[in-house]
Amino acid sequence: MADLTRRNVLTAGTIGVAGVALVGCSSGDDTATTPTAGTSAAPATSPAQTGQEVTAVSDVPVDGGIIVDSGDTKMVVTQPTAGEYVGLSAVCPHQGCLVNQIENQVIVCPCHGSQFSIVDGSVVQGPATTGLESIPVEVAGDQIVLG
Ligand code: FES
Repeated sequence: MADLTRRNVLTAGTIGVAGVALVGCSSGDDTATTPTAGTSAAPATSPAQTGQEVTAVSDVPVDGGIIVDSGDTKMVVTQPTAGEYVGLSAVCPHQGCLVNQIENQVIVCPCHGSQFSIVDGSVVQGPATTGLESIPVEVAGDQIVLG
């Protein structure tokens, strides 16, 4: 019974994330995907709460980063050079999907393949024409927190 309950919860969570992604992708003129739900993308980032813990410093690899998906917070934290941390929204500015991969110093959006620099979130490859939104972060002890 407990497994079924957990599975149901996980399935519901997956549908919820997919729903967010689909809504986000439906607002443009692209031929890809989805029924439209009307509102603009931006499902993900919550209002910044200074000091809110985002992740452990040790979780963020040098020359890479991680995608933080916790509650309403959907963001990317990168470490382009040792000791330099960058916070970015995980919401793709193209049509609002969530980025889902970081490799070879770029952050990748799965919906239409946009790529963004881990250094500053700028566009490396379209179709996005603007970069990922910056979210200030700072180090507090062993944690990365909203700045
Ligand atoms: S939503 Fe289209 S590339 Fe990200």
